[in-house]
Amino acid sequence: MYGRVFAVAVVGIQGRLITVEAHVGRGLPALTLAGLPGVAIQDARERVRPAVESSGLTWPLRRVVVNLSPAGIRKEGPGFDLPIALGVLAASAQVPATLLGSYAFAGELSLKGELVATAGILPVAMAAAAGRLKGVVVPEGNAAEAALVEGLDVVAAPSLAAVAGFLRRSWSPSAERPPPRPEPQPSRDVDLAEVRGQGMARRALEIAAAGGHNLLMVGPPGAGKTMLARRLPTILPAMTRQEALEVTRLHSVAGLLSGGLVAVRPFRSPHHSISAPGLLGGGSGFLRPGEASLAHHGVLFLDELNEFRRDALEGLRQPLEDGRVIVARASGAVEFPARFALVAASNPCPCGFEGDPQRMCRCLPNRVLAYRQRLSGPLLDRIDLHLAMPRLSRAELLGTEPGEPSAAVRSRVEHARARQRSSLSGTPWTCNAQMPGALARQHARLTDAAEAVLSLAVESLLLSGRGFDRALKVARTIADLAGEERIQVEHMQEALSYRAVPSSEELDHTG
Ligand SMILES: Nc1ncnc2c1ncn2[C@@H]1O[C@H](COP(=O)(O)OP(=O)(O)O)[C@@H](O)[C@H]1O
Ligand SMILES: [Mg+2]
Ligand SMILES: [Zn+2]
Repeated sequence: MYGRVFAVAVVGIQGRLITVEAHVGRGLPALTLAGLPGVAIQDARERVRPAVESSGLTWPLRRVVVNLSPAGIRKEGPGFDLPIALGVLAASAQVPATLLGSYAFAGELSLKGELVATAGILPVAMAAAAGRLKGVVVPEGNAAEAALVEGLDVVAAPSLAAVAGFLRRSWSPSAERPPPRPEPQPSRDVDLAEVRGQGMARRALEIAAAGGHNLLMVGPPGAGKTMLARRLPTILPAMTRQEALEVTRLHSVAGLLSGGLVAVRPFRSPHHSISAPGLLGGGSGFLRPGEASLAHHGVLFLDELNEFRRDALEGLRQPLEDGRVIVARASGAVEFPARFALVAASNPCPCGFEGDPQRMCRCLPNRVLAYRQRLSGPLLDRIDLHLAMPRLSRAELLGTEPGEPSAAVRSRVEHARARQRSSLSGTPWTCNAQMPGALARQHARLTDAAEAVLSLAVESLLLSGRGFDRALKVARTIADLAGEERIQVEHMQEALSYRAVPSSEELDHTG
């Protein structure tokens, strides 16, 4: 006796339609899984029999063989409990086959037969739509994300018993859909108006938001680095629907969705103790995206940058370069998108007061050097905006003058982004920071005077090739903020003021 059900394998953020075949035949009671099931699917094996028996259904006490095809590819994904159980139920004639060919089934089962919320349901629904199926049957907790795929019939079920009822046409999901949740808005709890003084830093934050640039803030404790970084999301431009769908897909695979569309740009601030797989993606069994990918189209904030593990920071070089993470596994490499703006904060030395006019740094010079060397040159080299932040004076801190509110800054950011979108239209890039060097040189449009400032900088500041391109991109963003077609002298000068401050060691070498 034979049954056939559609499931979806999820690798990275890609779903792929899989056929689950089940055969119930002679032999001692056993369940065999064939067709390259991954670790997560092997796991399903232990759960399906108790789930079936707790649902008022019968587990056939015969030899059961389940085969996943196409055979060549490795199947991963957390949602195979339900389709495997249904395959067995179909093969033992407990559910009719009529609807089985029109739906893809996905969901993890509890031992009691409940369908529990499962990671990766959005890619499952997308694969079902791409395979021209009528719909998907998923756990109730995943209904909202599946419903993001247009034209797909989403059947959200609480349990295996309910799904069996659906196939027998004796149960149907409540016609009354829960009202769509209001889309979350950017947090209104914090606002740039609360930040006093720090004009340079506020300006750098605005440039970072406008051009999607990476930003490093270096300053003593209490300067307001963390405070500023947390306010960056309040001035970022809104996401397009396309971007929001990409972000939602990553959060779906991570099992972090609680509703439908993630409409607000992500702001991720992992603790410095995070491991490399936690930051970049990994895990045994089903592969999950890391914080770098969860920050896709948003901000990855690394507070106390020097405290992060070196291997984790090294791994960031690739996503900073090309907007994606590749996780190598025995079964093949898996790719996750990871195009984020990096915002990092660091103290200048272990005690935090190096360079402070009012307080003495108590660190030994070689400790300061070791502290700085924990940040790799190649990482720092990929940061467009380097900013030294002084501590506020007492007078500034006690002053009552409020800063400019986030809404005003955001509207300038939106205008600058609109200019970039139109000048970059026809390319895969949407903001200045993403442009490759050659394109940046072509798009820069400097006045002759600005050009002269730049060539002087190349000679006198020993600007590297990367530093040159970086200064151009930042200058382009500053000109976009000013609504100028061409980069003027003052834009170029401001851009050069954010270049990496050479370490004392580098200065020693160059004399
Ligand atoms: N520019 C500022 N305007 C208003 N408050 C500030 C400012 N800088 C620091 N503070 C106050 O000091 C606290 C510590 O700042 P924080 O951002 O944590 O500093 P850092 O991260 O540089 O060590 C903040 O919570 C805030 O109350
Ligand atoms: Mg801090
Ligand atoms: Zn110190």
